[in-house]
Order: sequence, then C-alpha cells, then structure tokens
Amino acid sequence: MKLLDGKATAAQIQAELAAAVQARKQEGKKIPHLAAILVGNDGGSVSYVTSKVKACEAIGFESTLIRYDETVPEDILLEKVQSLNVDRSIDGFIVQLPLPKHIDELKITQAIDPKKDVDGFHPRNLGNMILNLPGFLPATPAGIMELMRRNNIETEGKNCVILGRSNIVGTPLSIMLARNTNPGNCTVTLAHSKTKNIKALCREADILIAAIGRPNFVTADMVKEGAVIIDVGTTRVDDATRERGWRLVGDVKFDEVAPKTSFISPVPGGVGPMTIASLMMNTLKAMELKAK
Ligand code: GUN
Repeated sequence: MKLLDGKATAAQIQAELAAAVQARKQEGKKIPHLAAILVGNDGGSVSYVTSKVKACEAIGFESTLIRYDETVPEDILLEKVQSLNVDRSIDGFIVQLPLPKHIDELKITQAIDPKKDVDGFHPRNLGNMILNLPGFLPATPAGIMELMRRNNIETEGKNCVILGRSNIVGTPLSIMLARNTNPGNCTVTLAHSKTKNIKALCREADILIAAIGRPNFVTADMVKEGAVIIDVGTTRVDDATRERGWRLVGDVKFDEVAPKTSFISPVPGGVGPMTIASLMMNTLKAMELKAK
C-alpha cells in the first residue's frame, strides 16, 4: 500500500506557483489576485475559505475575503458578484457553497463571469469541460486528476466506480475520467443513492472514488485486492479528545481498507489540499488568460 499524499503533492504545486509569482514580480508583472465570498458561519465553509486565503498568502498571491451575515439578501450578493466581475484588480473569485436556503445557488453561479470562475462551476465552464474545450475545471475533480497524474496512477482501461453524483465532484469527475486523456480512458460507473448492489459494484472497481459524505461507508469487504482508493469525504464528527472538539472523517474506513489497496488517499491530507492547489492553479491561469 502506498499513501496518495495530497498534502505533499499540494505543497509541491504551491512551491511551483510561488516560483511563478516570484518570476512575475521580478519582471514587474501583475500578481494573481483571488477573492472569496463567504456567507454565514458554517464551520466547514469557514475553515475551507480560511485555508484558501492562507494558501494565497503562502504562494504570494493577493487575496480578498468578503464576508456576509447568513441573512444577506440574494440581490446584495448578486450585486457583489457583478462588481467583482468588472473589478480589473481581481483575476478570479469564488462563492463558497453551500449558500443559505433563501439564496438560489444556480443564479449566483450563473452570474459569475466564466473568465473569473476559478471554481469551474459556471455552466459555460462545465459545458467546455464536456466538449474538452479550454476553460476552468472544477477544483476538487481537477485536484484528484492532478493527484493521480503526479503519482503515476495508471487509469487507461481501468474500471472506475465513483460513489456520489454531486455537481461539484462526482458528475464532473465521471466525465473527466472517461475522456481520452491521461489520467483518463477509464470505464466509469457513477453510483448514487438509487444504485443497486453497491457492495458488489465496488468490488469490481480497479479505482474506487468515494464522494458521498457518509463517514466510514466503504469497508474492506467492498474493496478489490490492489485497488486504488480515493476518499473525498470530509465529515466533521464530534471528538472530545481534540481541543477543538471534532475531527474530519472520510467516506472510507481507512484502517481496514488500506492494507488491501495499491494506493489510498487519507482524510485529512488527501483530496482536501489538492482542491486548494487546483484553485490556486486556476487563479494563475485566469490572470494569464486575462493578460493575453
Ligand atoms: N463547497 C465545497 N467545496 C467547494 C468548492 O470547491 N468551492 C466552493 N465555492 N464551495 C465549495
């Protein structure tokens, strides 16, 4: 078993991005600037956005965090999106999801200028992804692809089962892994809550990707000997032994599954840091595209 160390891989990417920033500085060029909109105080969202801002600082990107109370009206948020769209100093921005129930997420996502949509959630970027045209790829699936690429995971002709069909992970990843690329060329099965015989299906997987947000769902009896396992789950569970009172738990029962695998990504330290790394790569790309 080899660990798919997302923390180490992301650190390598961040070092490459920091070098690119230094080179730009020396040439007197603009430094990438990422803005993030955060609505409310959900613990998970606050810590994701904090990590994104910290990553900007570590790399040398500029960052702006815009916070709203969770009662913010939809039209105020839309106005902010529109002002970021036309703000020349901002190269890319994100609106952290989920948003409170009174706000239409799709409306907000569709209001973002696709050229600044570094999360790759706008329908135009998702459409470009399907057609293999240039655009921004969603950060988590792109981070998983990069984790596989940098760790030389063979994917061609492999049976890949993805658990979870969310718009931001399972569905785009199923398309990316089926494309004629490397990584890619997998035979993909996208499983979800209505899928029958999920255990038997998982046992056929050469590559199993769990993105359902159900702690410890994948157990050893669901895993083929030598499979590659990627765990996208990040659920907070109470843990009185920790000072902060919780810990992050993945969708895979790591201790019993790991010995059966060829590669496995841990939680934390697997996909999470890669999501942030790919957001940073998208931000640099947004700025370079704008310069062209
Ligand atoms: N919520 C969970 N993951 C993400 C992400 O990658 N981007 C945004 N904007 N919200 C999220």
